[in-house]
Amino acid sequence: MQQLPRILLIGPMGSGKSTLGEALAARLGLDFIDIDTRIVAAAGMTIPAIFETEGKAGFRKRETDALLAALREAPAVIATGGGVVLAEANRDAIREAGLVVYLHIHPDEQLRRVAGDSNRPLLDPTDPAGQLARLQAQREPLYRELADLTVDTSAQTSEQLAAALALRLAQMRDIPGKDAQP
Ligand code: S3P
Repeated sequence: MQQLPRILLIGPMGSGKSTLGEALAARLGLDFIDIDTRIVAAAGMTIPAIFETEGKAGFRKRETDALLAALREAPAVIATGGGVVLAEANRDAIREAGLVVYLHIHPDEQLRRVAGDSNRPLLDPTDPAGQLARLQAQREPLYRELADLTVDTSAQTSEQLAAALALRLAQMRDIPGKDAQP
């Protein structure tokens, strides 16, 4: 049997990268890596504390380090942070690393999921909808450019999405010339 490819989940905050990633990894028998969790563990600080003490640039540097380290490991399902696509070096590494799945989320559902979350320093509490829209306008072209597959996560549970994605991956691996291996 062919080796499973590394699977990278990209998309904005609240799109379900971590929950879907965990469910998909369990279903495929792959390890699951959450880049934000790795950053927090390496820094010994929460994400808001990193932004506070090291600034946005400090967080982005840690994000690139954690991403590149994860990509040196065996194939896994990897959940990235919403801003990982901003740096060209990250995009180049992601493109080379495996199968990229963009998790798209409807803005209303995204707002419902993330509003009031104090662990997200980029979310402006006075105008979360506007802030999310501005981030999405900047990043959506980058998500789309990188994506091998796009999945809308607004209306299904992570288990349903994981089952559908696992089936799609199996179909891709069955089509000659459409091998999903990196
Ligand atoms: C960020 C998203 C967060 C986290 C950090 C920055 C962003 O990850 O990496 O707060 O720039 O959109 P999630 O997408 O997992 O919320």
